[in-house]
Amino acid sequence: MRQKQRRLQLPEQLRWNHNEWYRRWLLRQLPSRVGSALDVGCGLGDLARSIDADEVTAIDASARMIERASATSDEVRWIHGDVLTHDLGRYDVVTAEASLHHVPLREGLARLAELTKPGGLLIVIGLYMTATPADRAMELVTLPANAIVGLVKALNGTGGKPHDAEMPVVMTAPTLPEIRAVAAEITPGARIRRHVFWRYSLVWHAPEVH
Ligand SMILES: C[S@@+](CC[C@H](N)C(=O)[O-])C[C@H]1O[C@@H](n2cnc3c(N)ncnc32)[C@H](O)[C@@H]1O
Repeated sequence: MRQKQRRLQLPEQLRWNHNEWYRRWLLRQLPSRVGSALDVGCGLGDLARSIDADEVTAIDASARMIERASATSDEVRWIHGDVLTHDLGRYDVVTAEASLHHVPLREGLARLAELTKPGGLLIVIGLYMTATPADRAMELVTLPANAIVGLVKALNGTGGKPHDAEMPVVMTAPTLPEIRAVAAEITPGARIRRHVFWRYSLVWHAPEVH
């Protein structure tokens, strides 16, 4: 069962966007040449617009997010829909930045895997709930680092809101052991890493037949 994230909140002026922090990392995982890419739960489309691929598709369940994202670029195919049910096809690269925890984990990961072409690449930057001693040890790094980055960003004027006021957010997430267990079944061989700022990454090279 998913539980609520409990987290020490910084004062508003020191808060910042943890998803943006990992976007450059995510983009560096992409192959040099990408045919088709799908960004799932694209929000305002910042990641989708940054993906260098022949064709980029981005889907979001929020009509408002897609309305705003589609006003920023006509180089991305923007889709308003539910990734779990929308007819989407398959892609060389599938990305999900801070969106997998919006859907049930097993169903969501299975759907992302299904959308990844055989031989393709799935990259998730996700949120996990602090639950284990290792998670708590990571918080000893994350909490001061979060405040220091927030302070630096506030001083140089690049901080601010952790997310757009209209962006749908969910304050629940699975734990890393849950994520590892489900991934072992659905995306065997996926590389899952714990990161600072309450994020994990999952990188899965889909087998040639799946
Ligand atoms: C926290 S936001 C992250 C947005 C963006 N990826 C980013 O990092 O800025 C999660 C997004 O997932 C979208 N979302 C939630 N459930 C979805 C679903 N079933 N299908 C498609 N998008 C969904 C929400 O509407 C929201 O825009």
